[in-house]
Amino acid sequence: MTIQWYPGHMAKARREAVEKLKLIDVVIELIDARIPLSSRNPVIDEIAHGKPRLILLNKADLSDPVKTEKWITFFEKKGHAVLAIDAQRGKGIKKISEKVQLLAKPITDKMRAKGMNPRAVRALILGIPNVGKSTIINRLANKKIAKIGDKPGVTKAQQWIKVGKEMELLDTPGILWPKFEDEEVGYRLALTGAIKEEIFDFEQTTVFLLRYLSEEYPERLKERYKLDVIPDGVVELFDEIGKKRGCLISGGHIDYDRVSEIVFRDFRTGKMGTITLETP
Ligand code: G4P
Repeated sequence: MTIQWYPGHMAKARREAVEKLKLIDVVIELIDARIPLSSRNPVIDEIAHGKPRLILLNKADLSDPVKTEKWITFFEKKGHAVLAIDAQRGKGIKKISEKVQLLAKPITDKMRAKGMNPRAVRALILGIPNVGKSTIINRLANKKIAKIGDKPGVTKAQQWIKVGKEMELLDTPGILWPKFEDEEVGYRLALTGAIKEEIFDFEQTTVFLLRYLSEEYPERLKERYKLDVIPDGVVELFDEIGKKRGCLISGGHIDYDRVSEIVFRDFRTGKMGTITLETP
């Protein structure tokens, strides 16, 4: 479910995230491996300040593996633990608990030094809507739990999900808002399904995608649309794709709406292969 964010929503979501953070030892920040920066919340560093953090690059099955490696290095250099995972198929899920243990070691060591028996490490998943929070919680819980819904303000009793003996996960994720201010960020969020189709311009989004693909993945474009060369201008590229796909309107003109629809759908349904929409 995608929600519209207003200042009131954002303030409330932030308050709730901060409240939940008081209960936990380690923050698990979930981002989309195809858009690692655009799927981050602008105030995450401020909200999660002082807590050890594991960054999960989810939907890595859809991202470009070469770029994913670069992103892993990028975030590691910032001092975070990082894992690329595919929550839908459960790939990488087993490593989460290990990483969380490692991040919490200073805390558990402190308990031991005080002669206490360390309790399970408590973690919380934070992320923008549709990034896969429920899917991961279900995976970690090893069962089907009802989808919680991306409604800020939906309160229910906090429960802890046991993940093995050494980790506990808060059963409701912290929902963060994406940053819409930047146009390109909006296009990336639209292309990956993080924001509703009704609220963005198909043609503009496709122009952005085609420009990016011409630069970063020209071979994929050539292959998908049987092009010999990628034309220099984006209008010419629309024309070429339109001709190949028979998107014509009266007078032999190209139907740009249909070209946009086709290219957008091809991207969304993975027909162009694994693609990452931003590079560190
Ligand atoms: P949320 O709680 O953060 O809002 O996200 P949720 O788990 O509901 O996941 C959103 C969509 O993303 C779901 O698809 C889910 O199956 C998919 N998803 C989650 N993790 C992965 C992953 O690692 N790889 C892939 N390929 N998909 C993943 P959905 O219910 O079909 O929704 P939609 O795709 O129609 O939006």
